[in-house]
Amino acid sequence: MDACSQSSLAIVVLISGGGSNLQSIIDRIKEGSLSATLRCVISDQENAGGLQRAVESNIPTRVISPKQSESRHDFNTQLVREIAKFQPDLVVLAGYMRILDSAVIDAFDGKIINIHPSLLPKFRGLDTHQRAISAGEKIHGATVHFVTAELDAGPIIAQRAVDVRAEDSAHELQSRVLQQEHIMLPEVIQLISENRVSLKSGKVLIDGKPFQVTVT
Ligand code: GRF
Repeated sequence: MDACSQSSLAIVVLISGGGSNLQSIIDRIKEGSLSATLRCVISDQENAGGLQRAVESNIPTRVISPKQSESRHDFNTQLVREIAKFQPDLVVLAGYMRILDSAVIDAFDGKIINIHPSLLPKFRGLDTHQRAISAGEKIHGATVHFVTAELDAGPIIAQRAVDVRAEDSAHELQSRVLQQEHIMLPEVIQLISENRVSLKSGKVLIDGKPFQVTVT
C-alpha cells in the first residue's frame, strides 16, 4: 500500500533529522494500522535523513530553512503557507528541532502535536537522556503532546516509560526510548484520526478518560 494513498486524517510531518519517527508513521500507514494520508514532509535542514525516507515512499518533501529566509517573519510566513497548501488535519513535529513561532502555532491552533523524549513535565528542552541519567531517574520515556506557545508544555496525549538501567549510557537509554516513540506516535495519530482525543479544561481525554502512562 502506498503511504500517500490512504484516506482519512491528512497529516504534514515536520522533521530536522534522521526521521525514524517519520518512518514509523510511514510503515504503519503502509501496513494499514494507521489511517492517515501523509501529504508532505517539511524539513528545516536540507540534508535531513528523513527527507530521503519520504522520497523513497513517494511523499512530497519541502525544505524551508531560516538560512534561506530574509527574516524570521519571512521564514514563518513561508512555513505557514507551505503547510497550509497541504490542508492538513494534523501537523506532526517528529524530531523538528526548531521552536515554532506563535504565528505558526496560531495558524494551526490545536492541530499540532510534538513528540518529546522525556516524561514531561520532566526534562523539557534538549539532552533529555543524559539529564535523566544524571538526575538518577529510575524511569524515563517519551511524551506526545499538543503544541502550545510554551515549549514542551502543551496538554499531554500519551506517555510511554522505560526503566533506566544502572549501566545505561545516554545513547542506550535513547535507543530504548526511541523504540517506544515508534509505537506511541502512530498510535496517537490513529486515536486522533478516530476522533477519540478531546480536550477538557486544558487536559486531554482519550475516550473521555485521562491518559495513562504506559510502562514497558
Ligand atoms: C526523537 O527522540 C524525538 O522524540 C525528538 O527528536 C528525536 C527525533 O528522532 N523530538 P528521529 O528523527 O525521529 O529519528
